[in-house]
Amino acid sequence: MLPPIPVLADYGISPTHGFLPEVLPLTRLPDPYYNKWEAIAANLQALILSKRLRGVVGRLPVLSTIGLEHDAEWRRAYSLLTFMAHGYIWGGDSPSDRLPPSIAVPLLKVSQHLEVPPVATYASLCLWNFKPLFVDEDIDNLENLATLNTFTGSLDESWFYLVSVAMEARGAPIISLMLTAVAAARQNDAATVTRCLATFAERLDDLTTLLQRMHESCDPTIFYNRIRPFLAGSKNMAEAGLPHGVIYEDGSADGPETYRQYSGGSNAQSSLIQFFDIVLGIEHRPTGEKKNHADESEREGRAPAPRHNFIMEMRKYMPGPHARFLSDVQSVANIRDFVDEHRSDRPLCLAYDACLSMLRVLRDKHIAIVTRYIVLPSREVRARSRSRSPEATRRKVNLATASRQQPQGIAYDKKGGNLKGTGGTALILFLKQARDETGEPAVEEWTRRFMSRQVKAEGQGDFFAGKGEEDAGFVVEREEVEVAGLAGTWTIDDDVGGICNY
Ligand code: HEM
Repeated sequence: MLPPIPVLADYGISPTHGFLPEVLPLTRLPDPYYNKWEAIAANLQALILSKRLRGVVGRLPVLSTIGLEHDAEWRRAYSLLTFMAHGYIWGGDSPSDRLPPSIAVPLLKVSQHLEVPPVATYASLCLWNFKPLFVDEDIDNLENLATLNTFTGSLDESWFYLVSVAMEARGAPIISLMLTAVAAARQNDAATVTRCLATFAERLDDLTTLLQRMHESCDPTIFYNRIRPFLAGSKNMAEAGLPHGVIYEDGSADGPETYRQYSGGSNAQSSLIQFFDIVLGIEHRPTGEKKNHADESEREGRAPAPRHNFIMEMRKYMPGPHARFLSDVQSVANIRDFVDEHRSDRPLCLAYDACLSMLRVLRDKHIAIVTRYIVLPSREVRARSRSRSPEATRRKVNLATASRQQPQGIAYDKKGGNLKGTGGTALILFLKQARDETGEPAVEEWTRRFMSRQVKAEGQGDFFAGKGEEDAGFVVEREEVEVAGLAGTWTIDDDVGGICNY
């Protein structure tokens, strides 16, 4: 008996908006009981700038969640509270390792209700944090989107979130489309599978176009120094001033209070991109692990579960129903096997390979973005810090200053042994492997060869994308890392990595 094909409504997924909510995010909570939360969020940038947020939150009463009715209200509450929480933790001269009860108590309740961790996630920053400018126009159009909450009030921050929103909206129809393809494959209906794959490939191309628009209105220096520090979580944050994590003061501790540690907000928490991998049967292995052809022949009738710790870890940061949807899709994904069994069907094979190729291009452009927005600015910051006095470096401790304190080029893990790539080497290795794995299932020999070419991607060295990662010194560093046999160290489990760690 084959497992049933998941029904979107069972997971709160919209046929038109995908992982974005069917009901648009609320612009404020309707119950005036929550006016104090709304007032803080509306003045968040000014409160952070004037360093008065902590005082205001300290005087805020602990509000109950009893006045939250519909899911849209719970989602608005979650978004508000995570913005307040991260503003509180990171919005001072040094980070706060305590969240007061006025935030901690309702945040824990709301997170439990929505099945999300009590930190800023892709859901609170992007999925549930936008509004259309004109309600009668589509939300897959960047010119029709605005954010509800930001830390900085900058256009750059809004744009950073909105590019993802537009991508989620534009990609949304692919979800139903590919579930139709899964059903068609069960019926041996190759024509329908081919049609669905061809449309999927075209939409992926649209997503890459949207992704590249990041350069239009999000400045890398502002992103790195001003926006990214607020997205930081509480895991691996010793350098940034949170050696143990954060205590959520919810009044529940009988004994000693315990620290919590969470990853920061990252687009890697997007369920959409993981859905693409699953439905196409793409396998993500731990960094450094090569493809094993023996495993390949044993694979039958389902998508391989990602064995990459980080990718699996990110599912814990998705809304619970979305993560469950992904694991249920995993158990029905049959497209890769279907294509394998119909290798003589050229249009089908071409359509499947086109999807892999388009998704690979998207990852390639993403690597150029990470290079320009994280890796290069992190090097600039470190270069600048070397010319500053240690006193000046100590004055403000947060994520923007943290990387200045790291040794150049390499770091030692907590056990004092292994070398780990810093300056982005491990990060780029992870992203490149994810990109290369995307092309691996290609059916046509020439497509496989084409996608495994090691060429400098177009656009990576241009004015917009900045210097390519090869130019930025990665070839040398990568060789060093590989020679040391450490290509597998970017596992981000407990030790290294993260949008906020470089
Ligand atoms: C300025 C823009 C962006 C930057 C700086 C950036 C940075 C990063 C970083 C550092 C990672 C590694 C994981 C982590 O450390 O969190 C990552 C992974 C990832 N990002 Fe982005 N990202 C950006 C935009 C986007 C957008 C718009 C999307 C699309 C929704 C996206 C999708 C992903 C995915 C799916 C991963 C997981 C790796 C993979 O599947 O290839 N990113 N990103």
